[in-house]
Order: sequence, then C-alpha cells, then structure tokens
Amino acid sequence: MSSNSITNESDTFEIGDSTVHRLGFGAMRITGEDIIGSPEDEETAREVIQHAVDCGVDLIDTADSYGPAVSERLIGEAIGDPDDVLVATKAGLLRNSEGDWIAHGDPDYIRNQVLTSLDRLRTDTIDLYQFHRPDGDTDFEDSVATFAELKDEGFVDGVGVSNVSAELLDQAREQVEVETVQNRYNLNDRGSREVLEICDDEGIGFIPWAPINGDDLAEHGDLLDEIADDHDATRRQVALAWLLERSDVMLPIPGTSDTEHLESNVAASQLALREEDVQRLTNAAE
Ligand SMILES: NC(=O)c1ccc[n+]([C@@H]2O[C@H](COP(=O)([O-])OP(=O)(O)OC[C@H]3O[C@@H](n4cnc5c(N)ncnc54)[C@H](OP(=O)(O)O)[C@@H]3O)[C@@H](O)[C@H]2O)c1
Repeated sequence: MSSNSITNESDTFEIGDSTVHRLGFGAMRITGEDIIGSPEDEETAREVIQHAVDCGVDLIDTADSYGPAVSERLIGEAIGDPDDVLVATKAGLLRNSEGDWIAHGDPDYIRNQVLTSLDRLRTDTIDLYQFHRPDGDTDFEDSVATFAELKDEGFVDGVGVSNVSAELLDQAREQVEVETVQNRYNLNDRGSREVLEICDDEGIGFIPWAPINGDDLAEHGDLLDEIADDHDATRRQVALAWLLERSDVMLPIPGTSDTEHLESNVAASQLALREEDVQRLTNAAE
C-alpha cells in the first residue's frame, strides 16, 4: 500500500448529532509505561494526536484513568476542543502506582471526574462519556443513572458503556440512550460476539478495544500473512480492515504512541479486502 497521502477512508457512523469516520484512534498508549504517568516525550505524544486529526481521524478515545489524567490532558493541549472531532472519554476506574485498574462506579466519584475531564479536555461538554467498567461494589443501575443525569444536566452529549454483558447493556438502555458499547473484540477474541450482534441490530456503535489484540496477532498469523501478502499490506492492517468489514457499527480505535504506526493503521481504511478474505477471517474463530 502507498504511504503517500495517508487519509482516513473509512466510511462514517452517526454518534448522536456527530458524524465520525469509523476508524478512530485510541489514546491510551500516549502515556507512560503501564499507562501510568507521562510519556518520555510529551511533544511527540501531542504530535501523534495532531497527526491523527490531520489524517482524518475524528473519533479519539481516552479515559480519565489513562495516566491517570495524562492522556486527556495531552489531548486537550494538542487539539483543544474542535467541533469536527469527537473525543470519547470514560470514568469508572481508579489507578495506583502499582498500575492496578480498580473499578469505582460510585455516583459522587463520577460527578467529580466529569469536572476534571472537562478541564483537561478544555471543553464545556464531553462529546461521549463512557462508563468504563461495572463495579461490583456499586449497583450498575446507580452508576448508569449518574451518567444519564450528567447528560440531562448538559455536562455530556452522549453516553456509552464499556465492558458490559448483553444483560447489562439491556439494563443500561432502560435508563439512558446508549450511543456506544466499548468491549474487547478482535480477530483472536470474539467473546463479545453477542453484544456486537445486539449493537448491529440496534444501530448502536460498537468500539472494539484492543483491535489488534494489543499487537499480538500470532494466532491466525499464517492466514493474516497470506491475505496481507496478496494486498501488499501488514497483518495489523488486515486485522483492522477485517473489523471494519465485520459490521457497519464497528468503530475500531487502534492505540499507538508512534506517528508511523498511526499512519499505517489509518492506511488500513484504504484496504479493500475481498469477500472471500473477510469470510476466511470470520470463519477462523467464530
Ligand atoms: N474500555 C476498556 O476497558 C479499554 C481497555 C484497553 C484499551 N482501551 C482503548 O482501546 C484502545 C486500543 O487498545 P490497545 O491500545 O490496548 O490495543 P491495540 O490497539 O490492539 O494495540 C496497541 C499496541 O499495538 C502497538 N501498535 C499499534 N499500531 C501498531 C503498528 N502499526 N505497528 C506496530 N505496533 C503497533 C502499540 O504500540 P506502539 O505504541 O509502539 O505503536 C501498542 O503496544 C486504547 O488506546 C484505549 O483507548 C479500552
């Protein structure tokens, strides 16, 4: 594939009143090691974000817990709050210096976090606010109710949920219009197949996290290599192109801290897989 003029050629999806290209960018990797603290070079991190937007990426995913705070701050510094970019953030996880991710869906905490996210993202309204992960110590209903209230109060435009089962998605949808679901899903891990089907049927955006399996595509590697060779592409590009073909509601957010990797990922949107390629990849683990 040509490396000239990298533009996001993925088609679009409506999230609330916004139209975004389906291939987005995950901003978890622009932080320090183990997603704690600042990256070695903050200027490079800001350049990666800016370059994503320059390539036509208009869906950026982040969370208050990435850093914590660092990813959101760098996004705010790099691009501010442009009208034509949807920044999706999340709340509901605490961090500590050991790198643990601790579910915390307490309503008072979420209400505190939205204020800090608004400040770091340099905006008056969060475009898409996602509940990061159900918390065993707080009723899911109470956490979701808080997100719904924040929408009613104008702090957030749209609400999403993440790491949910089909049952919890149903429950959330009784309380608020769910714009997106963000669950782990990739060529190797199809555990969220049922949730994806619901999203597909209902026109809810499905944001597959770890779309290239955290860069481990060894499983089905031979098949990926064969298809990649035919298209003069890479394994990762084929894995991303397959996701885009898998469903019209699929919104992959490959995460990277590197400008060249970003360009390569965006270029996956220009890859036209043959129907038989898609089928073989789909059949590989369904
Ligand atoms: N909702 C949740 O619970 C949850 C959990 C995890 C992640 N997420 C979101 O999902 C996004 C994506 O997930 P992820 O970052 O864990 O996994 P991923 O996108 O599947 O893989 C990211 C890894 O692949 C490497 N990589 C990416 N593009 C590459 C390329 N073209 N060439 C070589 N290496 C490449 C990155 O390293 P380099 O930095 O060196 O490129 C990084 O180590 C995150 O950024 C975050 O926004 C959400």
